Amino acid sequence: MRTVTGHDGDPDHDVVDHAGLLQRVLGRVVGRAREIELVVAALAADRHVLLEGPPGTGKSTLLRAVAQELGLGFEFVEGNAELTPARLVGHFDPARVLTDGYDPEVFVDGPLVAAMRDGSLLYVEEINRIPEETLNVLITVMSERELHVPRLGRVAAAAGFRLVAAMNPFDAIGTARISSAVYDRVCRLSVDYQDAGDEVAIVQQALPAVAINTQWLQRVVEVVRRTRAHPDVRIGSSVRGAIDTAAVADSLGRLRGLPLHHSAVGPDAALVALSGRLRLREGCSRRAEDIVTELWRQVFEAPDEGDGGAAEDGAAGDGGEGAAAGKAAAPAGATTGR
Ligand SMILES: Nc1ncnc2c1ncn2[C@@H]1O[C@H](COP(=O)(O)OP(=O)(O)OP(=O)(O)O)[C@@H](O)[C@H]1O
Ligand SMILES: [Mg+2]
Repeated sequence: MRTVTGHDGDPDHDVVDHAGLLQRVLGRVVGRAREIELVVAALAADRHVLLEGPPGTGKSTLLRAVAQELGLGFEFVEGNAELTPARLVGHFDPARVLTDGYDPEVFVDGPLVAAMRDGSLLYVEEINRIPEETLNVLITVMSERELHVPRLGRVAAAAGFRLVAAMNPFDAIGTARISSAVYDRVCRLSVDYQDAGDEVAIVQQALPAVAINTQWLQRVVEVVRRTRAHPDVRIGSSVRGAIDTAAVADSLGRLRGLPLHHSAVGPDAALVALSGRLRLREGCSRRAEDIVTELWRQVFEAPDEGDGGAAEDGAAGDGGEGAAAGKAAAPAGATTGR
């Protein structure tokens, strides 16, 4: 994907109204004021940046918003075992080489060369998954700001070129390989799960067309957050699981002719949305479905202050409006954080 937006490397164009920029990015990203400020500062200081955090913690969302508001070009690369140096750097078009020879015109820029020439950001997701030899190319470019490509020659990085990488510290694939050579060339920012209030706001922002009962949503977010602290679960669900639970509950409710927060809708939506997201601990004999059901009951059937228990429409036999009536119910129990 290529979204170059005319950053020409002219230092005069880098004079940005940082306060205004922060406000605009904050308008697109829920919370994360400190992280945004640090990323903007590191990029403004012309540093490479590594964002480290579990999946679904908004790393891509944050970087896209910052890059777009800064007016920076943005080359996006999905890091995986197939990302060879040739795919990252580029290649000579074999058919045209036969007629034109190794002419620079015949070279098809890969994302790295494109970002270097344009002075834009190269965003590598899951950098820990890329092969060692590809990582070595990046390490060289990060410190030398130039690259030697056989038969093409030297490619220099234009002003503005920076590498921004993201990785999941719990990812078993190759995390250990991220060498100290990479860490020594980047500014690192650790990104963790946001608080419950932010996660509620993220779901609301992600589903603007869905009317979601706020108290029901607070409880859904609480269920998702508890998956991260459950003793049988190694890695729980990110906020993506809460977004999916609400979206599926909305469509399931329509199919069943019930409101999305009805007790005959939410548990099924949560099972579909969450069970595949839980990575259970080795040796755990329970199924992810059982854990989702257990947590849903814990949160939705816990007595509310003052109302004897109904957290969902139709729950605990109240058959009435339950949460929809707007009882001032905070999510049951203290939140368990990540
Ligand atoms: N702070 C936030 N503001 C707005 N939306 C957010 C925020 N955090 C997460 N989201 C939403 O959650 C989902 C996951 O976010 P995103 O893709 O940015 O996470 P990520 O950290 O890049 O995940 P991965 O490690 O899997 O690539 C997206 O739908 C995004 O819109
Ligand atoms: Mg991402």
